Amino acid sequence: MNEFYNKDIISIKDYSKDQLEKIFDYTEKIMNLDLPTRREICKGKTLSYLFYEPSTRTRLSFESAMASIGGNSLGISDISSSSTQKGESLADTVKIMSIYSDVVILRHPLDGSSRFASEVSSKPIINAGSGTEEHPTQAIQDLFTIKKEKKKIDGLKIGIIGDLKYGRTVYSLLAGLGNYDVDVHLISPKPLQIRSDSIYEIRKKLTFTESTDLEEYIEDLDVVYVTRIQKERFPDEEEYLKVKGSYVIGLDMQKKMKEDSIILHPLPRLDEISIDVDKTKNAKYFEQAENGKYTRAALLGLILNENGF
Ligand code: CP
Repeated sequence: MNEFYNKDIISIKDYSKDQLEKIFDYTEKIMNLDLPTRREICKGKTLSYLFYEPSTRTRLSFESAMASIGGNSLGISDISSSSTQKGESLADTVKIMSIYSDVVILRHPLDGSSRFASEVSSKPIINAGSGTEEHPTQAIQDLFTIKKEKKKIDGLKIGIIGDLKYGRTVYSLLAGLGNYDVDVHLISPKPLQIRSDSIYEIRKKLTFTESTDLEEYIEDLDVVYVTRIQKERFPDEEEYLKVKGSYVIGLDMQKKMKEDSIILHPLPRLDEISIDVDKTKNAKYFEQAENGKYTRAALLGLILNENGF
């Protein structure tokens, strides 16, 4: 039996390097399969999604992934149109979604929401973003993109820039990078430094520096991972305005980077990468978003097929 079969994806911390590498191999396999064969992988299977927060990439890439492997999707993308408005609980909503489908994708503003959902669901839960805590499938797509673009992960110098306090993709990415031998530099405004209590375990596997100065590191980095300042998670707008626009990757900054370094961003972006950088060969964030479709197709194929594909 394949080890991912019928399993939840709650936290990237649950995955070893060996397991991540297997997922990357299956992702490559899906990318190289001819369309008729690909469409057999989840034929007759249904994915459901339940998004308590807005999403473009995560929800649509899951839908697109499921369609590409022959399955179908149904779900709630706007919670205000669901019976949550009548007071239905998360537990009951998840139970119902799991009756109607084979796997449930959940995004929710609370830390621990996916773990809780997995306890009440009759089908596997995939965490599509839980509070400021985790976004494990984003990290899988990020790591896959790094490996695809740089041909390796071990040995790289990786800068993670921006909102490290509220950006959940950062916590999943750091936990994933803990499986590799990498040199990590965290660069953020002081008020948005990494939450030390949330990386207690990660620190045992990963060493990193912390700085406010991007210029100090930019010339050495192999991967420049930029994040959006998460306005929606600030307790008040005044605090947001103090750090808004702290780091902007424009052409001036891009010119200082190594020729073969890559710029990633989980997206959406606001002003932290200027659009004239998009056409440079360092910009890989749209490829990264595309890779999300294939990594998610691989994960669905593995979760929904006892013997893999
Ligand atoms: N990267 C990401 O999670 O994007 P969405 O919020 O659009 O899903």
